[in-house]
Amino acid sequence: MSENALAIIVLAAGQGTRMKSRLPKVLHEIGGRPLVGHVLTTAHALGAQHIEVVVRHEREQVIATLAEQYPDARIVDQDEIPGTGRAVQVALDALPDDFDGDVLVLSGDVPLLEADTLQHLLDGHRAASAAATLLSAHLDDPTGYGRVIRGADGAVERIVEQKDATDAEAAVTEINAGVYVFRVAALRTFLTRIDQNNAQGELYLTDVIGLLRGAAEHVAAELAPDAASTFGVNDRAQLAEAGRVLNQRIVRRWQREGVTIIDPATTWIDDDVVLAPDVTVLPNTQLLRACVIATGATIGPDTTLVDTEVGEDAVVKRTDANLAVIGARATVGPFSFLRPGTVLGEGGKIGAYVETKNAQIGEGSKVPHLSYVGDAVIGRHVNLGASTITANYDDVNKHRTEIGDEVHTGSHTVLVAPVRLGAGAKTGAGAVVRKDVPAGSLAMSVAPQRNIEGWVEKNRAGTGAADAAARERSAE
Ligand code: UD1
Ligand code: CA
Repeated sequence: MSENALAIIVLAAGQGTRMKSRLPKVLHEIGGRPLVGHVLTTAHALGAQHIEVVVRHEREQVIATLAEQYPDARIVDQDEIPGTGRAVQVALDALPDDFDGDVLVLSGDVPLLEADTLQHLLDGHRAASAAATLLSAHLDDPTGYGRVIRGADGAVERIVEQKDATDAEAAVTEINAGVYVFRVAALRTFLTRIDQNNAQGELYLTDVIGLLRGAAEHVAAELAPDAASTFGVNDRAQLAEAGRVLNQRIVRRWQREGVTIIDPATTWIDDDVVLAPDVTVLPNTQLLRACVIATGATIGPDTTLVDTEVGEDAVVKRTDANLAVIGARATVGPFSFLRPGTVLGEGGKIGAYVETKNAQIGEGSKVPHLSYVGDAVIGRHVNLGASTITANYDDVNKHRTEIGDEVHTGSHTVLVAPVRLGAGAKTGAGAVVRKDVPAGSLAMSVAPQRNIEGWVEKNRAGTGAADAAARERSAE
């Protein structure tokens, strides 16, 4: 194999004790993707011949997520011997014997590193012909990280873990990012020499650095250009902090692409979201999973969209939507709830206190106030009167409602599915529609109104209502 062959080992077998979670640490998400997913996305950008992920703790869960989202990563099982050194040993054993390139070790819990930084690390390592090159950073608060201990000449001597550090060592602010490149031959040789004589009784990968130096091998260190990118996630506070840093990056990226984001601190945009130039995002808005927002659309304030598509110049205000499609120039909100399968046509409207599910609402059609529309297909230029409801569920099954073009329903119409309203049909206020309405018909189901004159004065004599009625009638 060529000198530049590359294998990437992603460490994801640790227990993640400090997360105190049922979910394995590396599956906790930031920006809509598990921590280990961020690492693998970056790893893929580097063009490695081999990518291996070392698993053990909650392996089934981790493997299931990897198989679904990163099917070309190879799974390697760590045995009961603990530590990052052991994890790399088992991964090396799984590489082909004739692999003769560089090995890049990444931590499944260090999600913010970018491919550029890693490429730079690789280039530096190769240019220096180093046996190992580690990525380090200066942190104001290095607590919890391994410290990079340098000799009098400034060269890296070894790495010492927080739990094994003397006070003087703990005072060092240069940390080990947990990311390294090794020449595979050097790694194979020196990994067999580490032991478990340390505070945690683990095989530390970090000990390889000191051993290499002791054998006069060349060990280099690259300082990360952006210290925050080396951030490791060990507990929930760090998870939130990493999520915030990632979000800040995503917001910046879209601002540079021409998106107006009024309040970055309260705007959350997942990594997979796509925004067009001249989108405006107002405060307190979350755009999650695979949302796609077209140019000129305004989203927010106080809006959460999940896997939702929004068309050009649409306005979506104070809305919760999941797996919905909102057409160009449509308006949604305030206080609208769009559930999966909602498709709102161009120029359509879903207004205040309206819930929709599995509902196709045609071009220019309006559901303006207080409605539930489920399992329905609605034509073009329809207007549903305030509080029109599709009664789609008969306690056993869900049924469909079909509404033709140009239908107008009266307020408080109940459409008892399965039912069809032909084109141009109308319903009276309060109608309960149990039978199909032919095109162009008016459906009335409420009994004619009967007024019993004088009832109040007779039966409620002496009340304010009776007095007011008497006054109005005498003035007539
Ligand atoms: C590790 C480094 C530390 C560095 C820090 C950077 C060691 C001994 N220490 O410490 O110098 O500053 O990362 O974030 O390497 N893992 C396994 N198998 C194991 C143990 C861990 O695969 O037996 C995986 C974990 O899932 C995790 C990564 O290795 O993704 C790092 O393990 P963790 O226990 O978090 O190490 P740190 O204490 O953070
Ligand atoms: Ca860690």
